Amino acid sequence: MITATSGTNHELAVMFSNAAQAKGHDAEIIDLAEMDLPLFTIARSKDPGQTPDISNLVQKMTESDAWVVLAPEYNGSYPPSLNNAISWLSRDWQNFRSMCTGKPVGLGTHSGGGGAHVIMAMRQQFSFIGADVIGRSCLSGRNKDANPDTIDAMIDGLAR
Ligand SMILES: Cc1cc2nc3c(=O)[nH]c(=O)nc-3n(C[C@H](O)[C@H](O)[C@H](O)COP(=O)(O)O)c2cc1C
Repeated sequence: MITATSGTNHELAVMFSNAAQAKGHDAEIIDLAEMDLPLFTIARSKDPGQTPDISNLVQKMTESDAWVVLAPEYNGSYPPSLNNAISWLSRDWQNFRSMCTGKPVGLGTHSGGGGAHVIMAMRQQFSFIGADVIGRSCLSGRNKDANPDTIDAMIDGLAR
């Protein structure tokens, strides 16, 4: 479970994690906001003194059989914490490509509104990097709780 933010989307990550564990799977939450990676720039990426150590993140993401990515909608798209992490991860592009290719990915959001735009933006992003994004997604927000049946169905869809 990869959450872009530490608030309601982290809570959603906990719901996914609990549902996965209840079905006998191992699950772990990665909170990208908590990681607080520096802003990716080419200059920083070329300076070893300013390059964050993301080896632990890479190892966890590589070893996972599937990812559930949770993010709130920001201005019709996804938040900078997620975009920034993807930029850092893609620096080692060969490893990044093999890590992402065919990875089963489920998408979820807790947003101010409906969250349809952030799901579309993440679907495009994760498809582009070669992941196998499942059709079903979990949308929740101020006026709509996450549907536990959707979460269960997504876990089943990801555990191939
Ligand atoms: C910079 C910013 C932009 C936002 N843009 C949108 C938006 O376009 N659509 C929307 O539904 N909610 C928008 N929101 C609201 C967040 O999606 C909502 O508060 C979400 O629940 C925050 O997630 P968190 O509790 O995990 O931080 C925005 C919030 C911020 C801070």
